Amino acid sequence: MAYTLSDFEPMITRAQLEKRVRELGSEITGSLDRGPENLVAVGVLKGALVFMAELIRHLPPQITCDFLRLSSYEGGTESTGTVRFDFDLTQPIGGKDVLVIEDIVDTGLSMTFLMKALEVRNPRSIRLCTLLHKPARTKKKVKIDHLGFTIEDRFVIGYGLDYEGRYRNLDHIAALRPEVANGKSRLKNDP
Ligand code: IMP
Ligand code: MG
Repeated sequence: MAYTLSDFEPMITRAQLEKRVRELGSEITGSLDRGPENLVAVGVLKGALVFMAELIRHLPPQITCDFLRLSSYEGGTESTGTVRFDFDLTQPIGGKDVLVIEDIVDTGLSMTFLMKALEVRNPRSIRLCTLLHKPARTKKKVKIDHLGFTIEDRFVIGYGLDYEGRYRNLDHIAALRPEVANGKSRLKNDP
């Protein structure tokens, strides 16, 4: 059975998101050891869309932005561990300070794949900033340099995160209600 918006309840408010994103912006800006001209913010589409749009407004204006897209779940029911580029960056990153911006680190499989794939392109540095982390689901541990919130093992939507392509434009993060998660059929990527 498919879930609807009423199956979700608020988890992280708009105000909490705004505050944390501003803090992350200062944290990242403060940690730049070379001019912001050398920083490339790399958004992982589509999930990082909203988070990235807000975060970069708290970074110096001289930075550049690029995007890529991964597909991590093939076949539907469970993460296969097979991650591919759906599309890649438009510019080389050799010598650049790369900041990967992701919505959520869940199993860690996508970011383990991506960080390795980008490292071989010889950036000067590469760091990972993720809005959310679900440590209970870790299959591959990935180094997170900047983290918004650690969350419990619940399926979440909003602020860029989707359920079957929808609800990315919610202005806050909502989680599947526990009674619904336990009572209804399982989610596609929630084995
Ligand atoms: P991974 O399991 O760490 O490889 O995460 C793969 C991708 O699954 C993430 O980048 C998200 O796009 C998506 N994902 C994981 N957990 C959730 C969730 O709770 N809601 C929506 N998308 C999720
Ligand atoms: Mg994602």
